[in-house]
Amino acid sequence: MTPAEARQRIVELRAEVARHDELYHRKAQPEISDFDYDQLKRGLAELEARFPEFTSADSPTQRVGDDRVQGFKEVAHRQRMLSLDNTYNETELRAWHARLVRLLETDDLRFTVEPKIDGLAVSLTYESGKLVRAVTRGRGDVGDDITVNAVTIQSLPRELRGAAPRVVEIRGEIYMAQAEFDRLNAERAAAGEELYANPRNTAAGTIKSLDTAEVARRKLEVVLYGLGYCEPEAVRTQTRLQQQLRAWGLPVVEKYWTVRGIDEVWSAIGELDQIRRGFAYGTDGAVVKLDDIAQQREAGMTDKSPRWAIAYKYKPDTARTRLKAITIQVGKTGILSPVAELEPVFLSLSTISRATLHNEDEIRRKDIRVGDLVEIERAGEVIPAVLRSFPEERLAGAKEFDLFQAVGGKCPVCGEKIARVAVDTESGLGAAWKCQNYDCRAQRAGRLGFFCSRRALAIDGLGETVAAKLVELDLVRDPPDLYDVSLETLATLNLGTVEEQRVFGEKNATKLVAAREAARALPLEKWLYALSVPDVGETTARELGRRHRSFAEVADSKLLRAVLRKAELEEEKERESPGSKKNPPKDDADRERRKARRSEIEAELATLNGGILAGMPSELGPAVAASTLEFFAGVPGKRLLAKLQKLGIDPQGTVMAAGAFTGKTFVLTGTLPTMKREEAEQKILAAGGKVSGSVSKKTSYVLAGAEAGSKLEKAQALGVAVIGETEFLKLLGR
Ligand code: IVH
Repeated sequence: MTPAEARQRIVELRAEVARHDELYHRKAQPEISDFDYDQLKRGLAELEARFPEFTSADSPTQRVGDDRVQGFKEVAHRQRMLSLDNTYNETELRAWHARLVRLLETDDLRFTVEPKIDGLAVSLTYESGKLVRAVTRGRGDVGDDITVNAVTIQSLPRELRGAAPRVVEIRGEIYMAQAEFDRLNAERAAAGEELYANPRNTAAGTIKSLDTAEVARRKLEVVLYGLGYCEPEAVRTQTRLQQQLRAWGLPVVEKYWTVRGIDEVWSAIGELDQIRRGFAYGTDGAVVKLDDIAQQREAGMTDKSPRWAIAYKYKPDTARTRLKAITIQVGKTGILSPVAELEPVFLSLSTISRATLHNEDEIRRKDIRVGDLVEIERAGEVIPAVLRSFPEERLAGAKEFDLFQAVGGKCPVCGEKIARVAVDTESGLGAAWKCQNYDCRAQRAGRLGFFCSRRALAIDGLGETVAAKLVELDLVRDPPDLYDVSLETLATLNLGTVEEQRVFGEKNATKLVAAREAARALPLEKWLYALSVPDVGETTARELGRRHRSFAEVADSKLLRAVLRKAELEEEKERESPGSKKNPPKDDADRERRKARRSEIEAELATLNGGILAGMPSELGPAVAASTLEFFAGVPGKRLLAKLQKLGIDPQGTVMAAGAFTGKTFVLTGTLPTMKREEAEQKILAAGGKVSGSVSKKTSYVLAGAEAGSKLEKAQALGVAVIGETEFLKLLGR
């Protein structure tokens, strides 16, 4: 890999990891398993290690994931909350131990081995024994004050028993027990609501909810295992700490081990693996900590994690079962995806009878055939997946799977034509079959479900079942048709069968109507995303929403046409270059003509780049521009816009008039005298500017405060303008 390629890949991986960080920490809605996330991050760390010239303090490998959300007061931790390095294998664990032995110059080391609780980190501050505050980890140095929600946790003592330090920060994890999670989901299923994916994210979403009554209704729990700031100092070992926590009357882990040497650590990890499934909280690994706190201090830490502790993560559970059949599901975009129908098998707390097979290429690559014995994995949060088959045990005559044949060359739902299209898959670009009928029932139901999902308009109460029913009864063609369905119709909707009726009910219907009315006021970016415009994902929708005032403006977007024009010009410039080898000029006259044309093109490009396209993010490229314009010019898009107009729904974009900072890129470093970093960032974005993590020649200004670091030096070296808060505000025009 060349440095240029590495750099490109690093940038991509950073964006990808940051996206998953956001989904996990702030939204509590991850799209991939912890294992896959760890692999992704590890890939990035390895590349950064191979190409140290591209390391950056802003890389997600150098930071603690940020879980702060809006609506809570921010509080500084007296002692930073760190995260842990983790590993999935014994060799790395032993290497970690060997490093400690070298560092501390002794091989007589004691450790504790504790369950790694799969919850949400919390820091509880007790002053003179009284609980004063509960704060999330946040960014490590500051977190969200969630005290009002935390005090609804019944097992959380308001007072410590016995003698207590003057001030102590006690660290632990908030979680939701499996039984409570099941209860909650059963309730949601009955109400036709979207089911929660797993206890961890539900706990995280709940504790960050602004609806404290709802938090209290969902029984969260807490378990404590660590110490932050403590005055006066309380204990000398981690083992003593465990005992002290218990003596204070705090809930602690069911079991931990105090052991000597890495071999004993390893066997404790094995023992924990045997019993962890019986714990009230999900346990996805073991945390190994140096027992002696003086030694912990000596070992120290990196920016992000201590050297004295490591998390050993267990591999996700797997099971073997028989693949009975492969059925085909049609999603909201019309893509046909294969689903494994399995002989039911018990795995990670539930019975599994279906699993994803991703796509046809994957089935071929893994050589999976109907009738095979297969291994399936459930990584906790996401849908179970088929990992592999066992061809050596295959029954004679098992045929290779052919999706096109399996569906008889047509959509299994609507019977219309299917076509081969390119798709993004986890392993790169692939191909899939797609139903060509925009009005296919499966696509309509998929779009309606998505429209109401929490990521889109959050019209709670309308899950998959209700969506499918509304489409089946032809009550909804496009998602906005939902606004025409009356309260009575919704209340009497039968989600069951003719024999076994299950009505949606008055209460659920009323809630749904309230939610759909509330959604009217959501901004353009949410609506753009919710309407499933092809190629418009969450980020793209946000960028579009910031640059257009209304749907009408997007449909006839000057900006998107400029993006297309720019791509066209760049293509022409390349193709008609006077020096082109592929397409050389015919003669001197042609060469001269091309040179003249090149100047014209360059002039037009400069006008575009310096004008309408200044500050355009990479998300709004020609592909997105083409498909957005095409969609709104076509029948489905026109139909949607007409419908919205009839309903009086006209979502507003969050455009600012060309701001003071349009086209300008800022890099922030150090602590500003009065403004928080987030505030400054907000102001820059609001004024049309961009914020970047690293200084380059393209940086317009470095906004520097106290204790500014290497970014300041780099700015000076590159001759980039450095300004302070006062000048910044002056530039902003106040
Ligand atoms: S000690 C200095 N012990 O895992 C690091 N953490 O992946 C302090 N966690 O941020 C962490 N169980 O939220 C520690 N027994 C345990 C834990 C534990 C779960 C969480 C914690 C930490 C994260 C790191």
